[in-house]
Amino acid sequence: MVQFTAFEKVQGFLLLLKAEIVEPFSAQYYPHPAADLSGKTVLVTGGTSGTPPPKLIGLKNSRGIGKETAQQLALCGANLILTARDEKRAQKLVGELIELTGNTRIEIVYMDYSDLGSVRKAAAKILREVGHLDIFLNCAAKGYCYPPVMTMDGHEEM
Ligand SMILES: NC(=O)c1ccc[n+]([C@@H]2O[C@H](COP(=O)([O-])OP(=O)(O)OC[C@H]3O[C@@H](n4cnc5c(N)ncnc54)[C@H](OP(=O)(O)O)[C@@H]3O)[C@@H](O)[C@H]2O)c1
Repeated sequence: MVQFTAFEKVQGFLLLLKAEIVEPFSAQYYPHPAADLSGKTVLVTGGTSGTPPPKLIGLKNSRGIGKETAQQLALCGANLILTARDEKRAQKLVGELIELTGNTRIEIVYMDYSDLGSVRKAAAKILREVGHLDIFLNCAAKGYCYPPVMTMDGHEEM
């Protein structure tokens, strides 16, 4: 089991406080005025990101990197392809993004990084149906890697 020093615990608590309480009030969600991605095809992995909050009253869900990225790109008018591995979470994400941004050009491709066969299948589908990508943002990842977990292909999950 990982042991944290008293300093690391205080540091972790302050970071949590900043991310969950200070930033939601200071963050402004709007697209950069110069960013028009109409007609651009963007692939984002990890769009279903967002870790459940600790069980303390008043803390908001962390949105994670993929979801925030997907929302900003949708606001900029991109044609979005999002990867996901759970259909329910994926459908919820598409609904939320459409509601928040008005952009309906959002497709889901199912893929699990821990199974390279599923990655190849997803890549082949995108190549067949879309042909090319203008931007690729690889946001899917594990937030922590201890203890190490091996994938079915024999690689350490990251
Ligand atoms: N959030 C931050 O502020 C921050 C800052 C610095 C670095 N990072 C790093 O950035 C990465 C993502 O952070 P996050 O906060 O967005 O994490 P998160 O909220 O846990 O989201 C992780 C995303 O990756 C997907 N994913 C995980 N394993 C997968 C797999 N085997 N195949 C396909 N998709 C998989 C998850 O899909 P499911 O929904 O299916 O689980 C989810 O969409 C982490 O490595 C984190 O350490 C994050």
